[in-house]
Amino acid sequence: MKHFLNLIDFSPDELAAFLTEACRLKEAHARRVPARSLTGRVVGLVFEKPSLRTRVSFEAGVAQLGGTALYLPGNEVGLGWRESLADFARTVGRYVDALVLRVYHHATLDGIAAAGAVPVVNGLSDWSHPCQGLADLLTVRELFGGVEGRTVAFVGDGNNVARSLAVGCGRLGARFVLACPVGYGFDDRFKADYRRRVSPDFPAEVNDAAAAVRDADVIYTDVWTSMGQEAEREERLRRFAGFQVNAELLAKAKSGCKVLHCLPAHRGEEITDEVIDGPASAVFQQAENRLHAQKAVLEWLLE
Ligand code: CP
Ligand code: NVA
Repeated sequence: MKHFLNLIDFSPDELAAFLTEACRLKEAHARRVPARSLTGRVVGLVFEKPSLRTRVSFEAGVAQLGGTALYLPGNEVGLGWRESLADFARTVGRYVDALVLRVYHHATLDGIAAAGAVPVVNGLSDWSHPCQGLADLLTVRELFGGVEGRTVAFVGDGNNVARSLAVGCGRLGARFVLACPVGYGFDDRFKADYRRRVSPDFPAEVNDAAAAVRDADVIYTDVWTSMGQEAEREERLRRFAGFQVNAELLAKAKSGCKVLHCLPAHRGEEITDEVIDGPASAVFQQAENRLHAQKAVLEWLLE
């Protein structure tokens, strides 16, 4: 059974095929060509955490492909506490053709996928955000005509979004560098996984934002405090203070450098209004690309 859990599970050719199909779907949608690849299919959306982009882009994407999306609040289905993950999967798999889940613990996704009863899409976990990563790669491809050979500087936390983007860049031949405070870089488990499955050359990690952006085609950032880390917020605000993406930092990058952010943004923390609303920013093009990238994933999952 197919699942879309982590970008690391896909080869460069498979990732490139998703991007090509996403471009085709985006163009067809712009020309209002009707698509019916999900006719008669039902996709369940289970969210344990809040969402705007993921929920709405999946609901809209399923509708655009002629299918039906069902929203299932996480506190209602009670993954793993109202009933076991396997019982949940084996039941819901009798009703829906695929599930998109946003969960606190990545192990929840693995538990549901392991039941082998329903295809699972990771709509964000504490470990990774592959739908975001795919839309990010699509955006880089649109902005620069390709991903290979580009340099992406991620300024911020070595979190779920950073892991997926690092893997996507590694798979498609882009250079990735993480600029973060000491102690907020990639964890050993991710590094080992990356070295084994992507490349022995692990992406550079520096503790100096200015050094990271010097050769960057793309400066990327995300919130310093992710969902579920709220208790660490004050400490993180202090630790990340020198890692804001602001006009001063952007001025140190090459001309033509673009700025991306997965959103939602904590304006005034990891990014300033001036930058996110400025000419280098492509964050809403990036948000739109979630829709088309995920439609390509759903088609692959349900073909
Ligand atoms: N980027 C992203 O996943 O946004 P939401 O949390 O709004 O879904
Ligand atoms: N790193 C953020 C991404 C939100 C889309 C979080 O996990 O909250």
